[in-house]
Amino acid sequence: GEIDNRQEKEKAAKTVSKKVSNGDIIGVGSGSTSLLALEAIGRRVREEAMEVKAIPTSKEAALNCAYFGVPTTTLTDERPSWGFDGADEVDGERNLIKGRGGALLAEKLVMASSPLTYILVDSRKFVKKLGEKSSVPIEVDPRAIHLVETELIKSFHVESVQLRMAVSKDGPVITESGNVIFDVKFQNLNHKMEYEVKAIPGVVETGLFLGYSVEILTS
Ligand code: A5P
Repeated sequence: GEIDNRQEKEKAAKTVSKKVSNGDIIGVGSGSTSLLALEAIGRRVREEAMEVKAIPTSKEAALNCAYFGVPTTTLTDERPSWGFDGADEVDGERNLIKGRGGALLAEKLVMASSPLTYILVDSRKFVKKLGEKSSVPIEVDPRAIHLVETELIKSFHVESVQLRMAVSKDGPVITESGNVIFDVKFQNLNHKMEYEVKAIPGVVETGLFLGYSVEILTS
């Protein structure tokens, strides 16, 4: 249940906090597991007076860095030495679906810029086939919502295409880059789709994270 998952997440958070060395520039992921990891890292940094900098993947992550006393820099200024992040689904080849939190664009930019990213997940996230449980978030320029929806339905076998709606506001979720998100359930997800979907004008990024240099940490 939820308690086991919390314990798994805490273990992974502790493990990743041990990877920190003085001078590291660390990509900081978004989501509940990343938050636990950041807390553990912040504790080490304070107790051992280490000098590290974080590159946050969302405004939430940036505020969490401030809260735990970890100074930040940006991807424009510096490259990460390594990073950590959560995921929504992980397959046997370390491919991921991400973006439940809507920070997929920054998460992919930071991951693609990092020589290594630790993926912190509890065992519920493992799947035989990517897309088995989750839909794939697709970040779209709001001017292209009709175009992208039409193209997705026309050119892909999709079960559903849903504009992500805000929970406590009335209307669609607006990302930090001012875009919207379609949650798309594909009938038979294959790796080519990452490129085919991104070829639609107006698609900014997808939640398919394929072939990145990642190490999965479950505990
Ligand atoms: C954020 O956009 C997502 O990619 C998260 O990394 C993902 O949802 C994991 O979150 P939890 O650690 O809370 O499961």
